[in-house]
Amino acid sequence: ISDKMEKTRTIAVQRSVRHPFYKKIIRRTSTFHAHDEKNVSKAGDTVKIVETRPLSRIQRLSGPPLSRNCVTIPHVTQFDEADITDLEAFRRTLSEESAREGVKVTLLAFVVKACVAALKRFPEVNASLEGDHLVLKRYFNVGFAADTPGGLVVPVLRNADQKGILEIARELAALAARAREGKLAPADISGGTFSISSLGGIGGTAFTPIINAPEVAILGVSRSALRPVWNGKAFEPRLMLPLS
Ligand code: COA
Repeated sequence: ISDKMEKTRTIAVQRSVRHPFYKKIIRRTSTFHAHDEKNVSKAGDTVKIVETRPLSRIQRLSGPPLSRNCVTIPHVTQFDEADITDLEAFRRTLSEESAREGVKVTLLAFVVKACVAALKRFPEVNASLEGDHLVLKRYFNVGFAADTPGGLVVPVLRNADQKGILEIARELAALAARAREGKLAPADISGGTFSISSLGGIGGTAFTPIINAPEVAILGVSRSALRPVWNGKAFEPRLMLPLS
């Protein structure tokens, strides 16, 4: 599509889409757009510059609720950092010991435990919004966003308050494995009271996770990093975990 045509189209869109003259211009230039995006013909060779892939079943199912939640729930994201220097040292020791039993203890297990403690302290967050009522839950089922080849799913770790770190770690790993294999049962992905989205394994410094309605809040976890932290006398290297 030529620059001139693109400019004409932009002006037409900006003016009045209801006017038949502009409508005609938009229709014509859109055809060029569609044609242009599909193929580029160069010296007789047709080069495909656009590939159309069908969405997976999970993507088709999770897309509409995610976009609805994103649009209908007012999201306010508070960013903060937690000093996990000592916790990480403990996690490493525990993980080495538990590896003998085949359990990998990642930070997520501790985050689940910390969330349960926080949810007990702030029960309004372990709740769901139902019409004009806030329904407070006296149980703690923590969902966690898991990236799978088919798309995003949120398995739920049930009764997290009644489980120790090793049990939580074992269950998180089992649920994540089942999620990746596409073997989650409906009961595995329902009944959550609060969710966590951890992008710590991927990287990045901060993000805004989407609240999993009818839940009322979500915790985002990004990758921890060593930072100079002022201790009142000097800067010292501390492992800081970004939370949102
Ligand atoms: N900071 C630094 N490192 C971290 C970390 C953090 N916050 N969280 C995890 N890691 C490390 C782990 O220790 C592990 O390191 P290792 O391989 O050296 O042992 C590595 O990152 C990978 O961890 P991962 O396998 O992702 O385990 P996990 O328990 O942290 O997370 C899942 C499990 C299922 C949540 C995760 O694999 C996943 O799918 N995350 C994506 C979530 C998503 O897509 N959310 C959507 C956005 S809204």
